[in-house]
Amino acid sequence: MKHLIDPTDLSVEEIDGILNLALDIISNHDKYKEACKGKKLATLFFEPSTRTRLSFEAAMMELGGNVLGFSSADSSSATKGESVGDTIRVVGCYADIIAMRHPKEGAPMLGSMVSPVPIINAGDGGHNHPTQTLTDLLTIKREKGDLNNFTIGLCGDLKFGRTVHSLIKALSRYEGIKFILISPKELKVPDYIITEVFEKNNIDYREVTTMEEVMPELDIIYMTRVQKERFFNEADYVRLKDTYILDKSKLKNAKETLSIMHPLPRVNEISTELDDDPRAAYFRQALNGKYVRMALILTLLGVNV
Ligand code: CP
Repeated sequence: MKHLIDPTDLSVEEIDGILNLALDIISNHDKYKEACKGKKLATLFFEPSTRTRLSFEAAMMELGGNVLGFSSADSSSATKGESVGDTIRVVGCYADIIAMRHPKEGAPMLGSMVSPVPIINAGDGGHNHPTQTLTDLLTIKREKGDLNNFTIGLCGDLKFGRTVHSLIKALSRYEGIKFILISPKELKVPDYIITEVFEKNNIDYREVTTMEEVMPELDIIYMTRVQKERFFNEADYVRLKDTYILDKSKLKNAKETLSIMHPLPRVNEISTELDDDPRAAYFRQALNGKYVRMALILTLLGVNV
């Protein structure tokens, strides 16, 4: 039995297998419509979500399986003091696979230690979001045709943004990728990413504070929301929340082949005037999330079609 807690729980070969399976699901959707008949996915969301929870649920439905779960801690027995471990042991009696989001870093890992069924980390605090990373990798593969040899600008809240931490870890295993980290000094990537990922693996990265100074270099710009829910101080959030707003004027020196990505939800980071620009990939990215989660469910359940 395999769990997915951290993006590096999957080897590059296993990731390639999941992405290729997702591409086959896109091309041959009907072939998979009963692949999980009789199987159940539990979605245990102790923190709010639109895309991750609903795309997991849609994924299982499109595989012919069923879904159960809760969408907030308030509607679970966590409010009565039940531990994550006990919750997982019990839900493991009802479901074949569990997708879990929790505000505390490490909670899905704790769950995986006692779970009788595969656990998928659907986001743990400011730590990791490995299924968003699979979504992002599938999007890059579809938009760019390759997961090697490009320059990516990661922009916004690089301190609390778990999607960025997971994506950096995953992309660091591919060839020829240059990372440009665009953030205010208060929201720089955590030190462990610099030392354990970039420096340890001799990866090309640099830190800047404006997107304008690097825009002409970028093949991908990955915008992120300032994570209001992780701030200790409302005044700091208000001061930093609109540091970066991507709009038409900021793209005047950008490549025609640029891809604009965002894990969503968006607040103000990308002007809606860009939504119809062919370079705007963020809604295609959200759709890719459903297909890649279908592929992940099949892989972790060991279902071959
Ligand atoms: N990208 C993402 O994780 O979105 P949700 O918080 O809506 O699931």
